[in-house]
Amino acid sequence: MTSAFDTPVAIQSIPPLSALAPCDTLVIAVPESGELSPTARVLDESQGGWVSRAIAAGTIRCKRGETTLMPGFSEDGAAMVMFIGVGDLTELTRSQAFDLGATAIRQLTDKSRSRVIVAIGEVIGSEFHDAVVAGAVTGPSNQSLYSTEPRVFPPEALDWTAVDPSAIEQGRIVGESINLTRHLVNEPPNRIFPESFAEVAKQIAGETGLAVEVWDEQRLADEGCRAMLAVGAASSKPPRLVILRHRGGGEQEPIYAVVGKGVTFDSGGLSIKPSEGMVDMKCDMAGAATVLGVMRAVALLKLPIHVVGLCGLVENMIAGNAYRLGDVIETRSGKTIEILNTDAEGRVVLADVLDVAIQHEPVAMIDLATLTGACMVALGRDVTGMMTNHAGLIGEVTQAARHEGELVWELPMFEHFGEQVKSKVADIKNIGDGRWGGAITAAKFLENFVESVPWVHLDIAGPAFNDAAKPARDGGATGVMVRTLIHWLRSKT
Ligand code: BES
Ligand code: MN
Ligand code: ZN
Repeated sequence: MTSAFDTPVAIQSIPPLSALAPCDTLVIAVPESGELSPTARVLDESQGGWVSRAIAAGTIRCKRGETTLMPGFSEDGAAMVMFIGVGDLTELTRSQAFDLGATAIRQLTDKSRSRVIVAIGEVIGSEFHDAVVAGAVTGPSNQSLYSTEPRVFPPEALDWTAVDPSAIEQGRIVGESINLTRHLVNEPPNRIFPESFAEVAKQIAGETGLAVEVWDEQRLADEGCRAMLAVGAASSKPPRLVILRHRGGGEQEPIYAVVGKGVTFDSGGLSIKPSEGMVDMKCDMAGAATVLGVMRAVALLKLPIHVVGLCGLVENMIAGNAYRLGDVIETRSGKTIEILNTDAEGRVVLADVLDVAIQHEPVAMIDLATLTGACMVALGRDVTGMMTNHAGLIGEVTQAARHEGELVWELPMFEHFGEQVKSKVADIKNIGDGRWGGAITAAKFLENFVESVPWVHLDIAGPAFNDAAKPARDGGATGVMVRTLIHWLRSKT
């Protein structure tokens, strides 16, 4: 595996066209105003005003995201021309710019193309250039990883008119990092399990200069990570903890921590899931995959800060040595937990991982986890649930999410929810008293392991994985929150 998953091979900046240029496809952006960009004008003039007439007549549509694909006009120009509507330019957002790039390129992956010229940068503001490139880079990413006949053909070269090389580089890094996260989540659970995930992490670390440490089951035992070991006990695949470090700041500067749930398959354990609930549970490592994607980007963007990323990797299975209902586990922190449902395994894993994370003394910590079905009941398929012990930090994350156009919503951490995870036998139990408020009682459980570190918990159970395709992406993994976390970390520089 290489880190440039499903990514166009060569991406470069070129000036707006001053004459027709040979290529497989020329992508022209059209704003609602109908105004022609320099490259569109070249095309229009070569065809006696055909483009402007087609826009005026509505044959070429300008609504945001609408595409019109047609054969090219002359032998020395593009074989195909794609027009993509941008809508009202004054209302364009970064996520819409990202989706424009993704939608355009995704549509061009039906057959192999050697050169695609993209003239979107001439139309949209330069503050959106990195976003549209990032989107375009994600356009070919898809879930058909094991179809023996290729179904998706990433363009071999993308040439961007009027986009600064630095915006191209930043967009490429972010887009490829999203593709890495998606790819790992889309991989089947017989391929991606704790050890193989850790191997990918080592490879990414080697390519990007991240420091990496992998704790195997012996080290986990030595470190007292009994909660991780309990959840992973019944699997033939032993657990791993991956610790990635980016040291871009000065000696005395603060550390930020990102932590991910990495359950490579969640059968539910002895509290076994029905088939309908188990079928997509390869996605239960999306938090860890997000951490790896974000760490890759942080390293390649050379952000001048310190970041530590931790991935808690286990497989939740069933065997004679499975952890049981009624078991009491002494976590790494020393706090004891009573297991009342082995399907509430993510919080048990995170209990140890958060404890390792706070030993790095981060000034702020964000965890990501496909933690609860209850969060999907509360917020639906597309919204990330946020819970916190720190109003300032959740404000920062909210702002970063708003900047990137990812959907987040805070759920309350009122004290009484914490009562529900108190145990009669141990310090805490791993489920609440009923199903009501299940996303929050899970977060209250986690809060026991973060001490006084400012912390935000992101429940991505809804948005991390969605079987339905959209114009801007294939079904399957979404890479949600990669952009938001990169932007949050960037805001620290
Ligand atoms: N991984 C699941 C949560 C999940 C559900 C993620 C659907 C993505 C899609 C988690 O480990 C789980 O099983 N949670 C239980 C908790 C319950 C037993 C308290 C749930 O949500 O039902
Ligand atoms: Mn579970
Ligand atoms: Zn789970």
